[in-house]
Amino acid sequence: VTIFVPRDAASLALGSEKVARAILDEIAARGLDARVVRNGSRGMFWLEPLVEVRTQHGRVAYGPAKASDVKSLFDAEFLSGNDHPLCLGPTKEIPFLRQQTRLTFSRCGVTDPLSLDDYRHYQGLKGLEKAIAMTPAEIVAQVTDSGLRGRGGAGFPTGIKWKTVMEAAGPQKYIVCNADEGDSATFADRMIMEGDPFVLIEGMVIAGIATGATKGYVYTRSEYPHAIGTMREAIEIARKAGILGPSVLGSAHAFDLEIRSGAGAYVCGEETSLLNSLEGKRGVVRAKPPLPALQGFLGRPTVVNNVISLASIPVIMDRGAAFYKDFGMGRSRGTIPIQIAGNVRYGGLFETAFGLSLGEIVDHIGGGTASGRPVKAVQVGGPLGAYFPRALFDTPFDYEAFAAKDGLIGHAGITVFDDTADLLKQARFAMEFCAIESCGKCTPCRIGSTRGVETVDRIAKGIEPEKNKALLADLCNTMKFGSLCALGGFTPYPVMSAMTHFPEDFSPTPMVEA
Ligand code: NAI
Ligand code: SF4
Repeated sequence: VTIFVPRDAASLALGSEKVARAILDEIAARGLDARVVRNGSRGMFWLEPLVEVRTQHGRVAYGPAKASDVKSLFDAEFLSGNDHPLCLGPTKEIPFLRQQTRLTFSRCGVTDPLSLDDYRHYQGLKGLEKAIAMTPAEIVAQVTDSGLRGRGGAGFPTGIKWKTVMEAAGPQKYIVCNADEGDSATFADRMIMEGDPFVLIEGMVIAGIATGATKGYVYTRSEYPHAIGTMREAIEIARKAGILGPSVLGSAHAFDLEIRSGAGAYVCGEETSLLNSLEGKRGVVRAKPPLPALQGFLGRPTVVNNVISLASIPVIMDRGAAFYKDFGMGRSRGTIPIQIAGNVRYGGLFETAFGLSLGEIVDHIGGGTASGRPVKAVQVGGPLGAYFPRALFDTPFDYEAFAAKDGLIGHAGITVFDDTADLLKQARFAMEFCAIESCGKCTPCRIGSTRGVETVDRIAKGIEPEKNKALLADLCNTMKFGSLCALGGFTPYPVMSAMTHFPEDFSPTPMVEA
């Protein structure tokens, strides 16, 4: 019998280590023939630690399990899939999972993340094998035809970026995976690295073959120790199996990669500042042009792609561009792992085709707020994303539809707020965040954000509110168009959306000084 107990950071934070130990103790005490696999998370955080048992009728889930529940689970003979107060039935029938289309996350939570046998059993390496049999131009064409766009947030077509690098001349080219997942409410990159690291490795090797790059780096955050550990082990296993090294799966292609970690600056998620950090320099943003695709890491042609973009490549190569492109709407093709967080009942990762409305995601999939109070606002796209009011809940999850409402999808993290939230405080937080995280290279961001905090404070105190609101809007305009990168350039989104959609929170009622 196989029992699955996740070991990803979210489940560990909720006590999965103790649960796994208690299960191992109980197996030993009862002399049972059972093994424990430490899988990734299924992404249903309200059910973690989620224990699963593989039965002859498929996997059965129990959760959220505490160490103190373990004895009663064995007493109820849960190894046979028997009923117990924590029993959730067959895992794949849990509505949150059943409603998803899992392409990129198909193995996450299903397999042992470090088992290559599992990986191969669930279609792993099929994409790479097909890519090896193709020319670089054919691979790039397939990625372009799939419609895949950068999942880090900017939504730039991945195939076009690869083509630029493929066609660039240079003695050495690089694949850099941006795993510096810094947005609030985002954890998709971490879940892949901890739950299915080989899919990221496979995607990077394919990117290398397509562009002529032989060396890759995964740049992640030091706050992700479990992801770093799992990736390191997976890279070692991949090297031993000949997936990485001088001859990828026995082919004429060479590719190897390393994992590097940053030191906690949000701006190092911006690609040029990431490259500086990777080179050992201070994480300051570089002016573009030159594009990293032409002069990136150490001045060489470099693909910089987000984890999810690269992890989506294997399924595209395996199933074909048309299969992937068939999902989605408009120019947003394929699936997107939506990360639902904040004050929400069912928080977690929900992979689905583009096109669901924000209201469906928040009210039906997320189940409304955890507090049970009405939803007031939803911030989409991290700390630089806009706040959406209920009136805009019909907006479909699509890059262009969000842009048309002065918002952005970003890395697809959404944070839910109930009616106790004060959007003026959130606008202040956005300016303060920008002031703290600014790399300092350009004036609108470095100075504008501090002046922004002061201006919001004056509005809060009722000091010449109309004049100060106009000043704040003018400042946002300067930051939006005058900043060098998205940090200063996108901070106006949360500020302006808060002011536009929640004017009552910016009312000139003088606050009583403490
Ligand atoms: P961008 O629009 O300047 O560039 C997008 C990508 O396309 C870059 O990699 C750029 O180098 C590349 N590119 C542009 N033209 C090209 C060409 N002709 N050939 C090849 N490559 C080309 O956007 P940027 O500044 O890279 O990213 C901004 C986005 O980052 C925002 O939309 C925001 O949502 C997102 N973001 C994500 C965060 C996260 O934690 N994942 C955090 C903060 C922001
Ligand atoms: Fe640096 Fe801010 Fe300018 Fe970006 S906008 S380059 S973070 S100062």
